[in-house]
Amino acid sequence: MSDRKPIIAANWKMFKTPTEGYQFARQLLPKAMNLPGVKFILCPSATGLYHIQEVVKDSAIELGGQNLHPAEEGAFTGETSARMLVACGCQWVIIGHSERRHIFHESDKDIQPKIPTALNAGLNVILCIGERLEERQEGKTEEVLRQQLRDGLAGMETYPIDRLVIAYEPVWAIGTGVVATPEQAGEAHAQVRGILGELFPGIEAETVGILYGGSVKSSNAEALSKTPGIDGFLIGGASLDLDEYVKIAEISQIEA
Ligand code: PGA
Repeated sequence: MSDRKPIIAANWKMFKTPTEGYQFARQLLPKAMNLPGVKFILCPSATGLYHIQEVVKDSAIELGGQNLHPAEEGAFTGETSARMLVACGCQWVIIGHSERRHIFHESDKDIQPKIPTALNAGLNVILCIGERLEERQEGKTEEVLRQQLRDGLAGMETYPIDRLVIAYEPVWAIGTGVVATPEQAGEAHAQVRGILGELFPGIEAETVGILYGGSVKSSNAEALSKTPGIDGFLIGGASLDLDEYVKIAEISQIEA
C-alpha cells in the first residue's frame, strides 16, 4: 500500500435488505473507530442507502452507490440519479462494475458520461476496469485496460481527477474464488498508473488511488496489501460478513 489511507470498499451488490444493512453499519461503527488507518466505504443497494446514512452520518464510514444514470433526472424507470445518491448521504459511486458491463451490457460509451455527472454532483468515483480471462490468456490485459481508461475517461482532462479512484478487477477473479496473485495485480496496477500518466500528462501520477478487487478475503489480503501500487480493495462476497470485512481492514491498515 502507498502512504495514503487504504480504501476498504464494500460492494454489497444485490444482497442485504435495508434492515440488514443498517444492522451491519451499526455493528461496524465502533470497530471502524478503532481502525483510523483505513477508509471504510459501504456500497449497499440503492434501497439501503437512506436508512444507513442515519448510522454513518458524521462517522468515519462513507457511503457509496453502486451505479447511477448520467442524466440529471427524467423518465428512466428503475434508475437512480446522482442527486438522489447525494441526498441519501453518498460521497461515492461505483461506475462501470464488471457486472454492469457484462450482465447489463454497459459499454465504455455508456459509462463515460456517468463520470462527469457524478463529479459534478460532488461524488467521488470508483471506476471499475478489468480484463476477461480470454483477454489475459491472449496477452491483451494492458490493451483492454488502456481502452477502458481512454474511452471511459474521455473528455475528463479538466475534471478533478483527485476525486477519481480506479478499481482494477480482473473479470475472472470476481466472485470466482480465484484471486489474482500479488504479481499479477501489481503488474496490472503499474500498467494502470502508466496509462493514467499518458492520459493525464499534467497530473501527479500518485493522485489517483488504484484498488484491487476480485475474490479478496482475509486469507489473501495480506500479500495483496503489501504489494506496491495497491491502494486498497473493492470487496464483494467477503464484505457481506462483518468479521471478515473488519479482518481485511485490520490487515490493510497503515499506522495513522
Ligand atoms: P468479489 O467481488 O470480492 O465477490 O469477487 C468483487 C467485486 O465485484 O467488486
